[in-house]
Amino acid sequence: MSEPTVSETRLFQPTADFASQSHLGSLEAYRALHKRSIDDPEGFWSEVASELTWMKPWDKVLDESDAPFYKWFTGGKTNITVNCIDRHVEAGNGDRVAIYWEGEPGDSRVLTYADMQKEVSRFANALKAMGIGKGDSVAVYLPMVPELAIATLACARIGAVHSVIFAGFSAESIKDRVLDASSKAVITSDGTYRRGKELLTKNIVDEGIADCECIKNVLVVQRHPEKEPFAHGWVEGRDHWYHDLAKNASDECAPEEMDAEDMLFLLYTSGSTGKPKGIMHTTGGYMVGTYLTSKLTFDLKPEKDVYWCTADVGWITGHSYIVYGPMQNGVSQVMYEGAPNYPAENRFWEIVEKYKVSIFYTAPTAIRAFMKWGDDHVTKHDLSSLRLLGTVGEPINPEAWMWYHRMIGAEKCPIVDTWWQTETGGHMLTPLPGAIATKPGSATVPFPGIDAAVLDEDGNEVERGILAIRKPWPSMLRGIYGDPERYKSTYWCKWDGKYYFPGDGAIKDEDGYFWITGRVDDVVNVSGHRIGTAELESVFVEHPAVAESAVIGVPHEIKGQGLVAFVIIRTGAEGDEDVMRKELTSMVDSKIGKFARPEKIIFSGDLPKTRSGKIMRRLLRDIAEDRPLGNISTLADPSVVEILKDKIKG
Ligand code: WTA
Repeated sequence: MSEPTVSETRLFQPTADFASQSHLGSLEAYRALHKRSIDDPEGFWSEVASELTWMKPWDKVLDESDAPFYKWFTGGKTNITVNCIDRHVEAGNGDRVAIYWEGEPGDSRVLTYADMQKEVSRFANALKAMGIGKGDSVAVYLPMVPELAIATLACARIGAVHSVIFAGFSAESIKDRVLDASSKAVITSDGTYRRGKELLTKNIVDEGIADCECIKNVLVVQRHPEKEPFAHGWVEGRDHWYHDLAKNASDECAPEEMDAEDMLFLLYTSGSTGKPKGIMHTTGGYMVGTYLTSKLTFDLKPEKDVYWCTADVGWITGHSYIVYGPMQNGVSQVMYEGAPNYPAENRFWEIVEKYKVSIFYTAPTAIRAFMKWGDDHVTKHDLSSLRLLGTVGEPINPEAWMWYHRMIGAEKCPIVDTWWQTETGGHMLTPLPGAIATKPGSATVPFPGIDAAVLDEDGNEVERGILAIRKPWPSMLRGIYGDPERYKSTYWCKWDGKYYFPGDGAIKDEDGYFWITGRVDDVVNVSGHRIGTAELESVFVEHPAVAESAVIGVPHEIKGQGLVAFVIIRTGAEGDEDVMRKELTSMVDSKIGKFARPEKIIFSGDLPKTRSGKIMRRLLRDIAEDRPLGNISTLADPSVVEILKDKIKG
């Protein structure tokens, strides 16, 4: 008998009102569609793909001949931007708003789909003028301005591979990514605003690319109207203001014909070992997957919905559910540049009211912050336009779910808790609103076309174990850039190539609902950002005084998880701990980014190790969370435990 697992018993049925207008209005409809999609995946996905525009239809839906290097829609030709933009303009919807952009200082811009067609084409022509073409890799380090969406689409328009780097990453992180991808150009801005302060993005890029010979051009979007001198100057011939190039660029650019399996983008993400890996996504499958998941999960009605995903385009959520998925569905969306608490903690709700947002998609960490800031910031706004809420990025605790349901959703909006990853490209587990009753804290059931299971290490189905995906799906990653072996060993080796291994633990309850229990590898999810503990450890050991370090994730009230670092100082190198702590923190800032700072850095003479010298991370987690430790007799030196316990408390 396995231990009792899920204690949550609340069940929220879709309201009749919601169900009657939704794309999939009943449990039976979901079950029938899901069954069909699993019995005949090729038939199912080919029907979905047929809703989109292709320049040439595919010969084969799924090619499994070189598994796990699966290929989808082979022989098909298309350009994803045609489906994101041109299709809507040609259907007579060019006047529909594509983006309501809200700058942090309160400025705003509105771009229709017809505007997007012109702007994306103009940007694409500017890239061409710099010599960028099909297959070239272009790094994008931009804040949340419309040009971020425009630049990524412009790359896709001409077949260049974008590699978007979240604008919170440090110069060193830019360098690692630019070199790994051999990017030929970087698109950035002079700056942006964050909590009222100017953040000078180009300066960070200049530092990052100082030794990157592959970079031939830097394209700079102007965000600050008043020009200021750049810390590292302006390199003639390499640096270009976008508005200068745009003057001579035509606003028409024919879409490049792309093979379904041509690369669309690279996005770097953290794993349990080594440097971040460049996750590769290709054109056709990603296009079909993000189109359908956006449509069904968010029940999109482009004629009337105003959709808002609060993620940054620098992460996969922004790629799939700001740029590609919603735009393929032709919906109007809000894009916001700044912080949720600037100038005050009601900023998001002010935006919802201003634009009459009907679908709102955010992260549990944000919800927990809103809870903490207090209900008054919410209740003073009219949120009656909302009809659907979503969450993504980390497990949502039932308390936060209930607050979201009550305070934001007025107990009428379905909540879609979407489980997926950079690697999966799109939603994998999620309630389909109108069809699936929800349980607070559960990502519920597999999306159509997705065959999920909970397995033990040996591949037996269990109630509590490891999440596994049985079949390939169109928007799946195609590999890790430059490292096919790592792709196979990371994702396909656990169960002999039979299942995809996402790295998450899960429970499957008696109703077949999935509950994600968190990562089972050494990846920590801080505010929905994936951080490899090994990455942080390798930053610390670069410090000359550090002999060894171990980083673990611990529960955090707002962030979901926080990081605690244990650091061993070399004998003879001991000094003031506060000074050392500052030095190590600033190394994290400059080598990864501020968002990866640990909550606590604990200095110690030793770490709990087995007699063979392996650090016992599980024990470190128990110590950090003040749990009973059980048998520690296998430790090389059991006394280290008491010392660490005191340090944690102190
Ligand atoms: C976690 C973000 C529980 C999970 C889209 C996954 C979640 C990792 C959920 C991927 C959810 C994402 N419930 N956990 N609804 N969504 N995760 O690549 O651990 O940044 O493996 O993609 O976030 O993070 P990534």
